[in-house]
Amino acid sequence: TGTFFVGGNWKCNGTKESITKLVSDLNSTKLESDVDVVVAPPFVYIDQVKSSLTDRIEIAAQNSWVSKGGAFTGEISVEQLKDIGCKWVILGHSERRHIIGEDNQFIGKKAAYALSQGLGVIACIGELLEEREAGKTFDVCYQQLKAFADAVPSWDNIVIAYEPVWAIGTGVVATPVQAQEVHVAIRDWLKNNVSAEVASKTRIIYGGSVNGGNCAELAKQEDIDGFLVGGASLKGPEFATIVNSVT
Ligand code: 13P
Repeated sequence: TGTFFVGGNWKCNGTKESITKLVSDLNSTKLESDVDVVVAPPFVYIDQVKSSLTDRIEIAAQNSWVSKGGAFTGEISVEQLKDIGCKWVILGHSERRHIIGEDNQFIGKKAAYALSQGLGVIACIGELLEEREAGKTFDVCYQQLKAFADAVPSWDNIVIAYEPVWAIGTGVVATPVQAQEVHVAIRDWLKNNVSAEVASKTRIIYGGSVNGGNCAELAKQEDIDGFLVGGASLKGPEFATIVNSVT
């Protein structure tokens, strides 16, 4: 579905020095032209990355405030993200859900506000290991999807990232069959609860221990439309391999 989409989520990693190196590696690698490529640096380095990284790669933030900026100590507003050149924001990442404690409703509101101001949203969903083991994978994903669907007026500018929590940062990647099964379920949910058009147009990308070695098999799955990459996105050449895995 649509143009293959690969995002690099740098999470809370990097220094001025390591990011200078990563940007220069990204600038000198060949990226296939028919792939949308986005990186999400920590807030404090976005300006540095924006001014040094090739325009071929768009910038995402890893979070945004839920409404217009103002007296919200420690937060970063959507307006500020746009001001420094972000095109996207990652929302609902499992680390924000499960470590920081953001809930479905709050995440839905954030998505609606970011979209209203013209940012694209990388909307993350995914089950915990105990939820998978209890047979609740689809239910959990559907609830998380519903919270987005209830809050947003349009899906035009949303990419869904399916990231099973047990696969994130663990080295335990979902098998192509496991990932494809959930991606199909997500698409069916969109078809039944939003529209057939949104179901067929919305890109559903996979995240969780994607690397240069496992990306090609995953990319072959019909409903895997790209990747959201953590650890392996901190290495320029490996990230390029993942970007180019669709071809
Ligand atoms: P890893 O690729 O490090 O497992 O992280 C995935 C992720 O959380 C991307 O958002």
